Amino acid sequence: MIIPHPARLTRRAGSFAPAGGLRVLAGRGTERVARLLAGYLPRPSIHSGPAIRLDLVPDGNHGPEGYELDVTPTGALLTASAEAGLRNGVQTLRQLVPLHGPPRLPCLHVRDAPRLPWRGMLLDVARHFMPLEFLREFVDLLALHKYNVLHLHLTDDQGWRIEIDGRPRLTEIGAWRTESMVGAAGSDVYDGVPHGGFYTQRELRELVAFAAERGVRVVPEIDLPGHMRAALAAYPELGNRPDVRLPVWTAWGISPDILGVHDGAFAFCREVLAQVADVFPARHLHIGGDECPTTQWASSPLARAKAAELELTDTAELHPWFLTELHGFLTGLGRQAVCWDETGHTAGRLPPDLVVTAWRDAAHGALAVARGHQVIMAPHTSTYFDYRQSEEPGEPPRADVTTLRDVYRFDPLAGGLPVSDGTRPGVLGTQAQLWTEHAPTPDHVRHLAFPRLCALAERAWSPPARGYAEFQERLTGHLERLRALDALPKERVRFAGALGVPRKTVP
Ligand code: ACM
Repeated sequence: MIIPHPARLTRRAGSFAPAGGLRVLAGRGTERVARLLAGYLPRPSIHSGPAIRLDLVPDGNHGPEGYELDVTPTGALLTASAEAGLRNGVQTLRQLVPLHGPPRLPCLHVRDAPRLPWRGMLLDVARHFMPLEFLREFVDLLALHKYNVLHLHLTDDQGWRIEIDGRPRLTEIGAWRTESMVGAAGSDVYDGVPHGGFYTQRELRELVAFAAERGVRVVPEIDLPGHMRAALAAYPELGNRPDVRLPVWTAWGISPDILGVHDGAFAFCREVLAQVADVFPARHLHIGGDECPTTQWASSPLARAKAAELELTDTAELHPWFLTELHGFLTGLGRQAVCWDETGHTAGRLPPDLVVTAWRDAAHGALAVARGHQVIMAPHTSTYFDYRQSEEPGEPPRADVTTLRDVYRFDPLAGGLPVSDGTRPGVLGTQAQLWTEHAPTPDHVRHLAFPRLCALAERAWSPPARGYAEFQERLTGHLERLRALDALPKERVRFAGALGVPRKTVP
């Protein structure tokens, strides 16, 4: 029943079913993880009988995230070389307890470790603000599936969602819009309903701690230098047309309004990224870099002078230069920058030690590996969960369809790409993208996430030997568990608006 399927599992006859319930016994150094496990299990009556024992075995060869689980009729033993491994074992145990009847565990032996080190999910809280309580719930469901990264897309044209000290207008102005477009980019229908919200730094620190307890790190994204319209609505002087007042964008699509390349814009980026780095301890911080039209730079005397000073052939080359500068700043803070891998003027112009999220076609990911990058594979055709899951009516207004089977068939290592160990070029992992233009509520997100999230978890974690039919069988029972956890929408959600055009794939 387990999703993602363990690397090696041997089922044995019988079960471990102590009369007083499933009790947890913490070996030395495992107290925190033991508390996490106890919180997931039905509360046992106080008894001193056999228990689930957790042990750290530093020289046990489990790898940084692997674990071993041994369940016999007389007890259960979970061992790992590190806390991260124990946490993964806890999620396996959580899935082994039957939903109905007295608490027990099936007898088995599991030796397990992930296929890929980066197993992520992007949640876009910029297009639609999501309540903190839902973020916690979502993080816990990511942990259940052994994801270890929540990529939080915190800023975009339609909203700025993180409080920044010294820049109050970002959240006073930038976090609110008057209404939202209904339907895909280009629609002329608007809903007339104000939308907004933001997280305080304290709330985000609490989320980071909650996620860390579950082995999930939160990787924040500040999308730069494009997708910045909400920040420009707050501080027009950061852009290329300081005299033009822009409201926070109410439409979907790509806005031409981008940051300027003057000292004030860089001071802003440094200020924001320094505070973001302080709130989010993850080694990786995402600086965006996608869909940045450079037309405003082309007509800005200031940007043209900057390009000339840097001896660039074109103002478009300011785009990779900009990202390279921010990468250098984060390196100085001891952090690793990640950006979206783009086509066009940034292609081949980013320093190889910038980690890239390859979101165009899968071939772009392979190209980025060949250029020397560590790559997070996120091709839109397999990992964009804002796309429709089927041709059924009531799915999001996007022409593209990504079915459960499409996700399950996606192989982040297709073509024999190497896995990166975090130092060498190669595939660091994969992640799903949950953009929320058309997902205004947590229930919309739940509908888009499940069960595709389960399929990608398996591609990121499990060895690739299993077939889709076998996965579907396991999924049936798993969906029952997800329902019991309130992970699925209670009733069928509806997505409003007319279909857009398919996203063009780029050669
Ligand atoms: C993206 O879809 N613009 C990364």
